[in-house]
Amino acid sequence: MSTEIVLTGIKPTGRVHLGNYIAAIKPALQIAKDSDCTALYFIADYHALTFIQNRDEFNELSYGIAATWLALGLDPDRVIFYRQSDVPEIFELSWILSCLTSKGLMNRAHAYKAMIDTNEQLGVDTDTGVNMGLFTYPILMAADILLFQSDKVPVGKDQIQHVEIARDIADGFNRNYGETFKLPNYVVDENTSVVPGLDGRKMSKSYSNTIPLFETADELKKLINKIKTDSTPPNEPKDPHTSNVFLLYKEFATPSQTQVFRDKLVKGISWGEAKQELFQVMNNYLEKPRNKYNDLMASREQIDRILFEGAKKARALAAPMLEKVKSKIGR
Ligand code: ADP
Ligand code: TRP
Repeated sequence: MSTEIVLTGIKPTGRVHLGNYIAAIKPALQIAKDSDCTALYFIADYHALTFIQNRDEFNELSYGIAATWLALGLDPDRVIFYRQSDVPEIFELSWILSCLTSKGLMNRAHAYKAMIDTNEQLGVDTDTGVNMGLFTYPILMAADILLFQSDKVPVGKDQIQHVEIARDIADGFNRNYGETFKLPNYVVDENTSVVPGLDGRKMSKSYSNTIPLFETADELKKLINKIKTDSTPPNEPKDPHTSNVFLLYKEFATPSQTQVFRDKLVKGISWGEAKQELFQVMNNYLEKPRNKYNDLMASREQIDRILFEGAKKARALAAPMLEKVKSKIGR
């Protein structure tokens, strides 16, 4: 295949929120639409298994991510769209790569390190709550990426290290066995690299400060009203560049709407009114996808069919690459 390969995955560990959408899903959909790349987007369900070990929750969240991508306009005829666990070649490659990856590299991976640091602070055993899946998480991610010879990996900022680890692993393999894997590059949308949550910290399910993407209109309104703002009084000019309300607004509005809203802030509309406008523009934008999401979640066979077809296409690419890797290692 001569076109550029663009690949990304999202792990189903919670309901999709605005941070996931703005920083990961929206740019990925844009790339698939605008360029004549080969796009592979997938549900990283076995990555989620490192965190979600309740059967119903795991199942529900996996369908939720699939329905989200589809509701937001992913076209399965243009994008190879699959569930990671439907492509066994990934896990075979993951084992091969794990044998060639030093433990030290994993010790430095940020998600694992963060858990160790927290445990140390709490004065408990450093390995408390750490399963081997979490420890080797970046190797599985490297297998996801390298098996498809990905050129570009659109991700949020916190995933940069993982893509760099995939590069290191690919480079190590290539040095030992000769040129085999392409070295992938991450793509981070700098303008929206960190989407703030309700409390102003990074929006994350770990901080319980999220606005779920497909919340009902009423809930959405309530959550928008909770967004933390500064104490500039009504009528006083507000700085759009430091405003979380503005940051979210521009993601859902046309450039001309954004300009008008910017002017209003500078002239000094109240935060209350600004939030009302944010709600209008967001709700308008999300209404159709929300309905589609709800329809898809009520008809899971539809999702299954699409994922099944996607997995067939993914495996058709994965199998010959895995064979190549196996022949390189002498199998
Ligand atoms: P969470 O932080 O809620 O656990 P995930 O780690 O599952 O979210 O993130 C999935 C994707 O969305 C990743 O690419 C991540 O970088 C991106 N992402 C999540 N939250 C944000 C945010 N607040 N700002 C920017 N990107 C985000
Ligand atoms: N680790 C990513 C996240 O937490 C999800 C993921 C798994 C991924 N495999 C990937 C992202 C491969 C890009 C490419 O968001």
